[in-house]
Amino acid sequence: MSETEVTTAPRPLLLADDRPAARAWTLDPALRHLNHGSFGAVPLAAQERQQELRARMESAPVVWFSELPRRLAAARTDLAAFLGAAPGDLALVPNASAGASVVYAGLERRGGGEIVVTDHGYGAVTMGAERLARRWGGRVRTARVPLDAGEEQAYEAVMAEVGEATGLVVVDQVTSATARRLPVERIAARTRRLGIPLLVDGAHAPGLIAAPLDGWDGDFWTGNLHKWGCAPRGTAALVARGPLRDGLYPLIDSWGAADPYPERFDHQGTLDATGQLAAPAALGFVDSVWGWPAARRYMDELAGYGARIVGAALAGLTGADASVDVGMPVPGMRLVRLPDGLGADRLAADALRDRAPAELGVEAAFTSFGGVGYLRLSAHVYNTAEDYEYFAEKCVPVLGEWARAAR
Ligand SMILES: Cc1ncc(COP(=O)(O)O)c(C=O)c1O
Repeated sequence: MSETEVTTAPRPLLLADDRPAARAWTLDPALRHLNHGSFGAVPLAAQERQQELRARMESAPVVWFSELPRRLAAARTDLAAFLGAAPGDLALVPNASAGASVVYAGLERRGGGEIVVTDHGYGAVTMGAERLARRWGGRVRTARVPLDAGEEQAYEAVMAEVGEATGLVVVDQVTSATARRLPVERIAARTRRLGIPLLVDGAHAPGLIAAPLDGWDGDFWTGNLHKWGCAPRGTAALVARGPLRDGLYPLIDSWGAADPYPERFDHQGTLDATGQLAAPAALGFVDSVWGWPAARRYMDELAGYGARIVGAALAGLTGADASVDVGMPVPGMRLVRLPDGLGADRLAADALRDRAPAELGVEAAFTSFGGVGYLRLSAHVYNTAEDYEYFAEKCVPVLGEWARAAR
């Protein structure tokens, strides 16, 4: 449990004119939206900014595209400040998957071609590592990190797989299926001393963790602004330091090829980059209404409250403790254990996610780890205690029926 775990419901956040925070988004009020973590949600202020930029693009496309690299460079500076990165280290990419792909494409074979990942890694990013290992004629080694492992145990589990044959280490800053942190700073310090490149998958970090790159001294980091930062989709950062970054190129080869890193990423052919340019409006919106520290506090308190009441409802149903002891918990997300028989693997968990809107009236994340199914609760500023009370009261009994049918 997080240090800020609460037992009472936090008071809903309001807009400056006292309307509920959700009014600043365009989420369908017929559904409860308990899965901000997967795809984010864009506030109206940023949608309007993007629309404005699109109108400008359509009014004079030739002028727009000639000015685009300059605009993107300005957006990079704003986003770098939010992340605690140096603007000269940050390239814009469409998503964290692209950030990882750029690194995989740009890195020459090293060591014995082995790549170390963890069993908490995001499936698609791990599959990319497997393809790279095949290309390198090496293999992937998977560090097993127990869900409840604290910093020391997690660090040791990862480093136990690292050796002379290691050519790359890939570790999540915040894990997707298990909503926990991994000790990336410590791993970075060690791999740097060993001269082994490290890719940190920080897809969930921006917005959830204050200045996630402050003091960062690793080789490669990628993270999404379109998750917790609420930016329009297609907005992610790749942060790279050290000489290896000279080998990184955008996935779309274009006129920036002769430019240095990161400017070469400001040229990716004819693309609609209005989402990336509107990203600072999303960050600025949350900042101007609540301030990010207060927003994060609220998100964490609310997720803790949600997990407690949903967990209690599940325990009432099954008689089994549904609370989950996550080592290094992350603010704003929590796991609750599903009844036996539900979500035992990724496909089963995805099937629950796909049923939930129509049958439960919620958008929710169901995940799987080590053969156990979990409900991963997210909380953003537009969520309220009532969202989780609804889930506890109305959805948990249905989950019980699903579990009985699955046995
Ligand atoms: C840890 C992690 N890595 C990578 C991704 C991929 O993000 P995207 O789909 O924006 O590329 C996600 C998405 O949920 C994630 O959680």
